[in-house]
Amino acid sequence: MSAPTLEDWTVAKRAETVPGVHELVRLRWSPRSFSARSVTKDDLRILFDAARWAFSSYNEQPWRFIVARKEDGADFERLLNLLVPFNQGWAKTAPVLIITLAKKTFSNTGKPNFHALHDAGSALALLAVQATAMGLHIHGMAGFDRDRAHKELDVPDDYEVVTAVALGYLGSPESLPADLRERELAARQRKPLTELVFEGRWNHPLPL
Ligand SMILES: Cc1cc2nc3c(=O)[nH]c(=O)nc-3n(C[C@H](O)[C@H](O)[C@H](O)COP(=O)(O)O)c2cc1C
Repeated sequence: MSAPTLEDWTVAKRAETVPGVHELVRLRWSPRSFSARSVTKDDLRILFDAARWAFSSYNEQPWRFIVARKEDGADFERLLNLLVPFNQGWAKTAPVLIITLAKKTFSNTGKPNFHALHDAGSALALLAVQATAMGLHIHGMAGFDRDRAHKELDVPDDYEVVTAVALGYLGSPESLPADLRERELAARQRKPLTELVFEGRWNHPLPL
């Protein structure tokens, strides 16, 4: 049997949704294999502009991004070295690494912004959808040293280091070690809507 093509793979990873969910949502997923094709500065401008238009509490726009492209050399290595070994193993193939950050206080009042992490996540979700529309993928990571990131990336105290992200074009699953290749090819799983969406009060599933 011949190896799966990237197209086979895209179909295999497409979310099993109810009819009507947009293809951009269905086709977003988090790969661990990236192709060597680089992501241009023009593409980055589009992606971060999409993120910029996310909603946020009081329109604070608390998200910030530290970006390194592989061709940037030392900057890319600095970000890669923050990742736990498991994530370094696959994320080193991505042409772009990103650290997302969130400003913890409101600029106007100095009061804590409880929703800063929420809003940084919203911005990344919009970036992910824009990436999908451009044939790109992102893969978020909690597995990195946030304290070291704070120090080594000169992040001010008022900002939380939130996630690391790999960005690029899909690569071949064949380039992954066997255990990761299996996960890469596996169908994606989600909880049922009945566990997630309640009607009026806690634990009364909304019949959808
Ligand atoms: C905040 C966050 C942290 C994550 N951390 C890691 C990680 O450290 N390593 C990893 O391989 N995947 C990580 N993931 C990827 C998730 O495992 C993945 O999004 C989830 O399994 C759903 O798969 P999908 O994005 O392909 O739908 C993370 C995702 C998010 C959003």
